[in-house]
Amino acid sequence: MNADAPLDIITRSPQETQALGEALGVAAQPGDLFLLSGPLGAGKTCLVQGIARGLGVREPVRSPTFVLATHHPGRLTLFHIDLYRLDNPLEAEDLGLDDYMEGFPRERLLVELEHLGPEERRIRLRPQGKRYVALLQGLRGRYAPQARDAR
Ligand SMILES: Nc1ncnc2c1ncn2[C@@H]1O[C@H](COP(=O)(O)OP(=O)(O)OP(=O)(O)O)[C@@H](O)[C@H]1O
Ligand SMILES: [Mg+2]
Repeated sequence: MNADAPLDIITRSPQETQALGEALGVAAQPGDLFLLSGPLGAGKTCLVQGIARGLGVREPVRSPTFVLATHHPGRLTLFHIDLYRLDNPLEAEDLGLDDYMEGFPRERLLVELEHLGPEERRIRLRPQGKRYVALLQGLRGRYAPQARDAR
């Protein structure tokens, strides 16, 4: 299998999604960029809460509904930016997100969340760039194969 193949993880509870986030937070390095996408209630905030825990953030992390960006100090500072209320990419330019992101690499980890059932989610991790291929190598051993999927 290609090292840059996506890694699919099925979670069956919010706790499992948070545990995955925590593993990402523990593995995170300065400048890492994780881009989460998925419909309402897919578990994006839940995953971010796990990432925060893995980063050693102590304060609570919520959906930034009224603010676009928040940051939380921890082992590394978590910058949590919510693009949900942007109607189109040009608005991101207006907001100066380019400046905000200055110094960030273009490589990123795409994290796509999808409902499979009431408590079941498929979380697809797509590494874009060497850094994230390496990060995923560390997770593959832990998450693949998901033996209980192979029934
Ligand atoms: N396996 C699971 N992983 C994550 N959340 C789950 C899971 N099963 C059930 N849930 C529930 O789904 C909801 C996920 O909500 P969350 O706020 O994380 O979604 P979101 O993607 O941030 O949505 P929004 O776009 O509205 O902010 C929570 O109520 C959580 O308890
Ligand atoms: Mg949310």
